[in-house]
Amino acid sequence: MRSHYCGEPGIAEVGETVELCGWVNRRRDHGGVIFIDLRDRSGMVQVVYDPDVEDVFAMAEKVRTEYVLRVKGRVRRRPEGTVNPDIPTGEIEVLGKELEILNAAKTSPFVLDDDDVSEELRLRYRYIDLRRPEMLRRMQLRSNVTRLLREYLDNHGFLDMETPMLTKATPEGARDYLVPSRTHAGKFFALPQSPQLFKQLLMMSGMDRYYQIVRCFRDEDLRADRQPEFTQLDVEMSFMSEEQIMEFMEEMIRGVFKGTLDVDLPNPFPRMSWAEAMDRFGSDRPDLRCPLELVDVADLMESVDFKVFSGPAKDPAGRVAALRVPQGCKLSRKEIDGYTKFVGIYGARGLAYIKVNEWSDKGRDGLQSPILKFLPDEAVDGIMQRTGAMDGDLVFFGADKSQVVNEALGALRVKLGEDLDLMKGEWRPLWVVDFPMFEWDATAKRWTSLHHPFTAPREAHLALLENDPGACLSRAYDMVLNGTEVGGGSMRIHRAAVQAQVLKLLGIDEQEAQDKFGFLLNALEYGCPPHGGLAFGLDRLVMLMAGAHSIRDVMAFPKTQSAACLLTEAPSEVSAEQLRELSIRLRVPKKEEAS
Ligand code: AMO
Ligand code: AMP
Repeated sequence: MRSHYCGEPGIAEVGETVELCGWVNRRRDHGGVIFIDLRDRSGMVQVVYDPDVEDVFAMAEKVRTEYVLRVKGRVRRRPEGTVNPDIPTGEIEVLGKELEILNAAKTSPFVLDDDDVSEELRLRYRYIDLRRPEMLRRMQLRSNVTRLLREYLDNHGFLDMETPMLTKATPEGARDYLVPSRTHAGKFFALPQSPQLFKQLLMMSGMDRYYQIVRCFRDEDLRADRQPEFTQLDVEMSFMSEEQIMEFMEEMIRGVFKGTLDVDLPNPFPRMSWAEAMDRFGSDRPDLRCPLELVDVADLMESVDFKVFSGPAKDPAGRVAALRVPQGCKLSRKEIDGYTKFVGIYGARGLAYIKVNEWSDKGRDGLQSPILKFLPDEAVDGIMQRTGAMDGDLVFFGADKSQVVNEALGALRVKLGEDLDLMKGEWRPLWVVDFPMFEWDATAKRWTSLHHPFTAPREAHLALLENDPGACLSRAYDMVLNGTEVGGGSMRIHRAAVQAQVLKLLGIDEQEAQDKFGFLLNALEYGCPPHGGLAFGLDRLVMLMAGAHSIRDVMAFPKTQSAACLLTEAPSEVSAEQLRELSIRLRVPKKEEAS
């Protein structure tokens, strides 16, 4: 139907007759001449209709925004002074000779170049939203990223293999999406939270190197970087060490950044232990672009006359940490109140601070703080020394259970970094390693896996499984980029006895283990190679690369925060007959039924 895409004609085509198809971006009437900006995936071109060909001109007058057209015309240079340097076709225009309206369009619910359209409207009319050049660019970037990932893996002998979508629950820590079975009344499939167990089975089958770009399903609380269905690049390898796996995977990511954004990521990526990340940044996915760091001051606070600090200082599960903000004195009372509210989101009950107005000249008289009266000189000296605070700085404090302090100050340091423009360097990847195997769940009073139950403990820590599970480190590694966990994986347990021991520790008895993943436990006894791998969150990776703020912006048809699709209005009710076939009777609470 066409000879060129709209974005293609240039000076080289001047004099040629071209045939183009596309959407009307805008139509303008200029004293008897009609200008149509015709748009397709490749870009935009200006088509001009003169009134001298009457019937064609009459047709052009009917054209409205977002109509679908086919035009035929001659390429000519734009007259002096009308060149548009902002678009690649800006030096030429097409003098329209023919025009066919392939389809009319209703008035669009929003104007494509309006930046202020609500996300709800954009999602409801996603097919129109995706016409916006910004969305097109993101989809193209995504496609380029997956192409480069595939190329790298194909070139290194990986097999692209599919694994079932209708399967059994895999424990990645979220709630499952369930699918009722018609042929097995009362039974359910689970949609995979990841292909974890299947990819391990493929290693046991001798496939050696596997990958898959695969949809995963997790029914969990959604945030900007989480969706109920999302895409992983899932990888698994046999007979390789974690060192080799990490090197291999960073080389792949470096290649993707070079090939799409022309960015050189560091080689190698820095490594940091989980313990160091928590100590210095309060987070297992530290954003290294922000120079602010947490400093422990618990030992200085044990005997101060301020319970808010001395309590956590003496509690083995507590933490008292300081965060120095260079030039923070300029923060107003109102701004500090704002940050106090911000840390409240993470459960912090306050945000003490010291303003260092004139420490160098006046000593403690040069400090200003609501908690100064509680702090003896040694504590003040210690704080100043350890944080390196100088005149003009401000020091924030968090005191609570370690987890609360880490989450609150960890988030605060990133927020301050952004607000005060302290972020340095565009791309700061790292590997976080040496994770603990287990976390103590104080409410449920049991150990839980920090990654998943198939993660291998360090060989030298095997004995700790018996005596001190909390001290046992795993062979897991997470790839972190600018404060986001883009990928995570580990060496797996490949010996049945160790797997049994770990499951027991997690409070999963033999019967339950057999019921849930007996197939994997059996397979471990039929010749399982040492193996490991990881999975990248493709949406998250592309979100970062595109500079988008939400993974919804890099997914063609995402769901809302409440896990619904505004476009199709899924989820929706089903017929009584369908339910009967599935042997399902609904018990919807009255309130929801009404809504
Ligand atoms: P994990 O659970 O860490 O590991 O997932 C791997 C990566 O997937 C991304 N991710 C998500 N992205 C969008 N929305 C979500 N709800 C979501 N949840 C996770 C993250 C994360 O790093 N089977 C293991 C991998 C392995 O051990 O090989 C797994 O699934 O970027
Ligand atoms: P109060 O005695 O409650 O007025 O608190 C004095 C100062 O300590 C205020 O600046 C509070 O914001 C701060 N504060 C209270 N609880 C905590 C906490 N758990 N961690 C850090 N600062 C706190």
